[in-house]
Amino acid sequence: MPHKTLTRLPGLADVHVHLRVPGGEHKEDFSTGTAAAVAGGFTTVLAMPNTTPPLTTCETLHIVQQQARAEALCDVHFYAGASPDHLDELPALARETVGLKIYANQTYGPLRIDNLATLLRCFQTWSHGKPIAMHAEGRTIAVGIGLAAAFEQRVHFCHISRADEIALIAAAKARGLPVTCEVTPHHLFLTEADAARLGPFGDMRPRLATSADVDALWAHINATIDCIATDHAPHTRAEKLEPKRGSDAPPGVPGLETALPLLLTAVAEGRLTLTRLTELMAHNPRRIFGLPEQPETWIEVDLDAAYTLSDEGLHTKCGWSPFSRIAVRGKVERVTLYGALIFEDGALIHSTKRTRS
Ligand code: NCD
Ligand code: ZN
Ligand code: ZN
Ligand code: ZN
Repeated sequence: MPHKTLTRLPGLADVHVHLRVPGGEHKEDFSTGTAAAVAGGFTTVLAMPNTTPPLTTCETLHIVQQQARAEALCDVHFYAGASPDHLDELPALARETVGLKIYANQTYGPLRIDNLATLLRCFQTWSHGKPIAMHAEGRTIAVGIGLAAAFEQRVHFCHISRADEIALIAAAKARGLPVTCEVTPHHLFLTEADAARLGPFGDMRPRLATSADVDALWAHINATIDCIATDHAPHTRAEKLEPKRGSDAPPGVPGLETALPLLLTAVAEGRLTLTRLTELMAHNPRRIFGLPEQPETWIEVDLDAAYTLSDEGLHTKCGWSPFSRIAVRGKVERVTLYGALIFEDGALIHSTKRTRS
């Protein structure tokens, strides 16, 4: 067999993952979620606060920080969650988190802020400098842009998915407003036709959009879009197929292990450059969220490996992917974190586990 040529890239950073600790450990935990991250080429992940209980107090933050130090296989940083009941905790949380997360539309979990008074309190209280990440869909994005301008606070828009939304963010950026945004692989590679095919396994917030929306996102890949973030949101097969009586199946799909192969396939097809991919998945996330450098850390990818994505061999606890059976080109072969080889031949090397914090 001819020798593989491996290409070295920086360790990737995913600014939007749900590791489900505390309270959702049957879906994912720090060990399985960071195993999925590393297998996908990510050496830093930013964990979302819509847990049970949500991460809205220093007390909860300290518990999960300690647990992540013991169990995580790569670096994990946390967002503070905005909740009307715990606004007094925001100054302390700001010191120890990477940003404030505001859920401005309905999605999975109890966190949601839809009244102006609470939004104002958040923007007045949150320490300037660290971003405010917003789950905002449709016209709610205009609210976020207005708040960013009025309070001179950096706002990072999560999972932008539609043509009109990306056009609005492009206009805000052209005015010099302090806004950034991420898009997910599922909104770049799947459409509402896939949602019909996948049923609950293709349901997430924001929902999959039209092929015209997908085209619009790709048209902004070299300009308006700052980051590719997975919104890795695992739920079990049973929860997707047999939701609790009286409620709908929870929205959200896993994405840590499929993001880089999908984006490398786009590179192979000439839809973006490897340099741009590295900006979107490593440098920009680190710059926007002020993440610490990871010395002696890199990943090695085989750009020529052609294969089909599959549910088999996934490290995420949920054990499924909306991208299974899609043909890709590009594979993570090795991951080195702080000088230690931690992933090779599709498997984690646990004995050398060594994270920063
Ligand atoms: C996320 C989840 O499951 O936590 N679900 C989703 O559909 N994206 C919540 C979120 O990111 O909005
Ligand atoms: Zn503290
Ligand atoms: Zn969201
Ligand atoms: Zn999310």
